[in-house]
Amino acid sequence: MSYLDDLFGLSGKVAIVTGGGQGIGQVVAVGLARAGAEIYILNRSQADETLQLIAAAGGKAHFIATDVTEEASVDAAMAQILAQSGAIDIVFNNAGICIHEDSLATSIEDFRRVIDVNLTGEFIVARAAGRIMLERGIAGSIINMASMSGSIVNIPQWQCSYNASKAAVIHMTRSLAAEWAEARIRVNSISPGYIATPMSVDTPQALKDAWMPLIPMHRMGKPEELIPAILYLASDASGYTSGSDVIVDGAYTCV
Ligand SMILES: NC(=O)c1ccc[n+]([C@@H]2O[C@H](COP(=O)([O-])OP(=O)(O)OC[C@H]3O[C@@H](n4cnc5c(N)ncnc54)[C@H](O)[C@@H]3O)[C@@H](O)[C@H]2O)c1
Repeated sequence: MSYLDDLFGLSGKVAIVTGGGQGIGQVVAVGLARAGAEIYILNRSQADETLQLIAAAGGKAHFIATDVTEEASVDAAMAQILAQSGAIDIVFNNAGICIHEDSLATSIEDFRRVIDVNLTGEFIVARAAGRIMLERGIAGSIINMASMSGSIVNIPQWQCSYNASKAAVIHMTRSLAAEWAEARIRVNSISPGYIATPMSVDTPQALKDAWMPLIPMHRMGKPEELIPAILYLASDASGYTSGSDVIVDGAYTCV
């Protein structure tokens, strides 16, 4: 085994990726598979393309139709993974949505929907996986998807519900990290800046033009540029890292 495999390799590990049907989840799922993990894509809709990409990369992946906001749906997925693969070692808790709306125009239904998917959904998945890790003595790693929006307020688009949900994800991460530290379960978050995915690429060009001067690197990130940080958090390399928020944002939050 090479030195890098020894530090960052995931052979023999079972990894869940929520929201892995497209975007960041899809790209990171392929990265985790290439590092050796067996992947379970938990997504609301089909994830055939992700499964094909992982197979083409020589990896092993499965899809389970799951809505992260429904506890019964998540519990059923966890039970299926345990029956098929016998463990859950890594969770990339990535499924999320964003709505751009002025606060005065935001319906309470929209606000609740964003909190439900981004915060409560991540809690449901993290808790279900954490319970299994605790019961089975698995020293697992849970990586919650936050965002730079959990630390700063984006402009010029207003997205109060999203920003609030991601700030809460960062503190939920710290809370779970402390609660489960003695059980050797690590919980960290990752906070990307603007990443070119369907969530952000479909946004109007005028909005993206407004973002560029605000990003010190003057470009959006590629989903592939998140893989190394997530590999670090998923692997034994980060054995003493828990409760951290890793920011990958082209220096946006520095200024
Ligand atoms: N793209 C960015 O610029 C950016 C920046 C920072 C953080 N993020 C976060 O990264 C994550 C992924 O973003 P993306 O850009 O790849 O988004 P995306 O819209 O391209 O993909 C989101 C995925 O989540 C799935 N999903 C949504 N609701 C779900 C639910 N209730 N249950 C199961 N699956 C569900 C969708 O089907 C889709 O496959 C989100 O949490 C997002 O907030 C994105």
